[in-house]
Amino acid sequence: MVGAGYWGPNLVRNLGAHPRCDLRWVCDRDLDRAAAAVGRHSTVGVTDRVAKVLDDESVEAVAVATPAATHAEVVTACLEAGKHVLVEKPLAASVAEGRALVAAAETHDRVLMCDHTYCYTPVVRRIRELVRSGALGEIHYVDSVRINLGLVQRDVDVFWDLAPHDLSVLDVVLPPERRPVAVAAHGADPIGAGRACVGYLTLPLGGGAIAHAHVNWLSPTKIRTTIVAGSRRMLVWDDLNPSQRLSMYDTGVERLEPGEDDTRREAMISYRIGDMTAPALAEREALAAVVDELVAAVREGKPPLTDGRSGLRILEILEAATASLDAGGATIPLGGAPAGDRHEDGGRRPGSGRDAAEADRP
Ligand SMILES: NC(=O)c1ccc[n+]([C@@H]2O[C@H](COP(=O)([O-])OP(=O)(O)OC[C@H]3O[C@@H](n4cnc5c(N)ncnc54)[C@H](O)[C@@H]3O)[C@@H](O)[C@H]2O)c1
Repeated sequence: MVGAGYWGPNLVRNLGAHPRCDLRWVCDRDLDRAAAAVGRHSTVGVTDRVAKVLDDESVEAVAVATPAATHAEVVTACLEAGKHVLVEKPLAASVAEGRALVAAAETHDRVLMCDHTYCYTPVVRRIRELVRSGALGEIHYVDSVRINLGLVQRDVDVFWDLAPHDLSVLDVVLPPERRPVAVAAHGADPIGAGRACVGYLTLPLGGGAIAHAHVNWLSPTKIRTTIVAGSRRMLVWDDLNPSQRLSMYDTGVERLEPGEDDTRREAMISYRIGDMTAPALAEREALAAVVDELVAAVREGKPPLTDGRSGLRILEILEAATASLDAGGATIPLGGAPAGDRHEDGGRRPGSGRDAAEADRP
């Protein structure tokens, strides 16, 4: 385990408790942090040098929870030393760095897995099943709100801090042909922090649906809610309501074309309002499932749900969101999206959002 600051100790605890893992080292530049993470009576080695971990031939895999700006350097060193890697989100600090990591993992034939923790929660797994089995019908939209009075980060804006969670959930829940094809970002910095503290992401999806994510460090209340609306059913995931995290509404809205003998000339909107059910969900710490996935990838060669490529897709959206902010909220197509798959409004419209950008600035 490399990095034992705020998040690292959670991984240390889960790696230490996993029946198929044998935690050998905890490394942090700050030796006291590494020592505190393993505890006083542990036999796990403690070091402030990554090289010490990489020199140990018994180490097969390294979990990295250092700040994002250091991921490229630390993860490359691990892969080049022949270790499999689990790296914290975001995969790296830029698309270029992320691409280099994915390439290095392929060159060295090592697992590269990204800890997008929410993807391993029982609720997100259930949403994935429901969306992918067709139980919701055609997906119409996804609407996500992740706001609270959050720590204003020094090195990243609110998009890079909070949106990876929503984007990684979209990435695993939606089938590949329905993933985001473009992004438009609007942000504001009303307190003069030097970076967006309030942010809105609009993501046209393949097939014409849409997703929206609202991320905010300046909200008086904490809200963690996502709605996934389909033509047959709609889901509401409220992560702050453990007794009813997921609600499934047998509700749908349809446009009915007039039949041949119909006296009506225009289509009608039909509303179906049915029962609401709350599916039972297992209660299990997501990080335990993250470690399961890492072990299965290393031991059985099972591709991880959140592999390097999925980490890279998230980086592409974040980097395009930054470009959109700079271009006043213009919609930026995402690389690799086939032109025909783009939303009507998916093209870049230079200048169209300039006024909005000026208005966003404090
Ligand atoms: N999955 C999640 O929900 C989640 C939650 C919080 C943070 N994170 C991610 O975890 C990572 C770490 O975040 P944090 O909040 O714990 O940061 P942090 O600053 O609290 O801790 C990082 C630690 O890494 C150490 N470090 C830095 N460079 C190092 C190096 N080269 N070698 C060894 N140690 C080094 C630092 O001394 C520090 O103790 C980030 O990528 C962050 O995005 C993920």
